[in-house]
Amino acid sequence: MHRQVGRRVGFVVAAFLLVAATAQAEGDAAKGEQVFKKCMACHTANDKTNKVGPHLVGIVGRPVASVEGYKYSESMTAHAATVAVWDEAALNAYLENPKAIVPKSKMAFAGVKKEDERADLIAFLKTKM
Ligand code: HEC
Repeated sequence: MHRQVGRRVGFVVAAFLLVAATAQAEGDAAKGEQVFKKCMACHTANDKTNKVGPHLVGIVGRPVASVEGYKYSESMTAHAATVAVWDEAALNAYLENPKAIVPKSKMAFAGVKKEDERADLIAFLKTKM
């Protein structure tokens, strides 16, 4: 009897940890909205208005350097030949260290160094389709 309860508790704890781990890997869009404040001087994701940087509507899964009418740097245009699409992995690497991924880009931004902040940010950007 006692053992059975113990097993059940163990199962509940394991299920909880699994859900928690999945949630973390997915990122928290509400927290990501706060992280996005770092980007707002140069980007909007609410509508297709270009500021200093191109708009970020639908950026997760969007082809690299593909906003019509936005004048990308040569290095960003060249990057599109290497990495065609901003999928989550490509965004995660770029946002950690933009200058390492796209040298000589005109995006003057040091990057988001914390992995959980990047996951939250990407979760937020996914809501902007
Ligand atoms: C100081 C201004 C500035 C800040 C801050 C900034 N960016 Fe940028 N971003 C740019 C510019 C300018 C470009 C175009 C780069 C080029 O053409 O070389 C760009 C390009 C991009 C691209 C590529 C878009 C495409 O169409 O291929 C992504 C993705 C991006 N930024 C995301 C972000 C995110 C997310 C943040 C915040 C964490 C951020 N940027 C912060 C200026 C900025």
